[in-house]
Amino acid sequence: MSVTAATAWRALAARLPGADSRLEARLILEAVGADAVARPDDRLSALQRRRCDELAARRVARQPLSHVLGFRGFWTLDVEVTADVLTPRPETEHVVEALLAAPAPETARVLDLGTGSGAILCALLSERPRWTGVGVDASDAALNVARRNAMTAGVADRAEFRLGDWDEGLDERFDLIACNPPYIPTADIAGLEPEVRDHEPRAALDGGVDGLDVYRRLAPRLPHLLAPAGSAAFEVGMGQADTVAGLFAERLPEAAIGIRMDLAGAPRVVTVNQH
Ligand SMILES: C[S@@+](CC[C@H](N)C(=O)[O-])C[C@H]1O[C@@H](n2cnc3c(N)ncnc32)[C@H](O)[C@@H]1O
Repeated sequence: MSVTAATAWRALAARLPGADSRLEARLILEAVGADAVARPDDRLSALQRRRCDELAARRVARQPLSHVLGFRGFWTLDVEVTADVLTPRPETEHVVEALLAAPAPETARVLDLGTGSGAILCALLSERPRWTGVGVDASDAALNVARRNAMTAGVADRAEFRLGDWDEGLDERFDLIACNPPYIPTADIAGLEPEVRDHEPRAALDGGVDGLDVYRRLAPRLPHLLAPAGSAAFEVGMGQADTVAGLFAERLPEAAIGIRMDLAGAPRVVTVNQH
């Protein structure tokens, strides 16, 4: 049977779950080399149709689109995503924005705690050719993905990825610190969408009873990790910003603590500025 890209788009969109099914169907078509917008009348080959079907079946089974396609757009980069890393989210771009806006030396040293896919560190280094950085994660498998992402982003010679338990063993101070820790309260995980609950690494989600375990652990470490005029940006979950800002203010009474909103107007990033 012969099918045009436009017909395939409509059929796929009707089959896929979720509110973004039209966009997702278009991206799946692109992944098999068809463009339903620029070349709607092109006919799909048998191979393209079969490949489309395979990808759509995985999405219908509630695998995240990033796993089906193997990547997710983040900042200006296409970031490789596997089941070993959290899919980078648009709201995490506010962490990147906050640190690019912070005063920093030309040759700033950057620390990305819980680097996962390496998305934050790669985005920062791609914007500032003289910055160098370290990404830490407790998952070796995630670090392998991060290293590949650094190669693709052209920053591998300035990014080092280390296996570690948060800041354990780090004996350096950093001009900029990024951290998007697991912050979902343990009891909430069962109620998440299947794409997240069943396919994203538990260690990337579970923030303990109230979701705040990692902030509590890192707050007393910040004075030792930040350079004298350094800045940090931590992503936070719903309803956590004020508590996290309070934890940091207690440990860094001289620092300016700020809260940045995401595009939906929700408090999303807590910033610490030592100036
Ligand atoms: C929410 S994900 C963030 C990933 C990535 N930075 C991003 O923003 O897309 C949290 C990351 O923290 C890592 N992690 C969990 N426990 C850790 C630990 N004890 N030490 C270091 N990293 C840890 C997880 O493996 C995961 O990659």
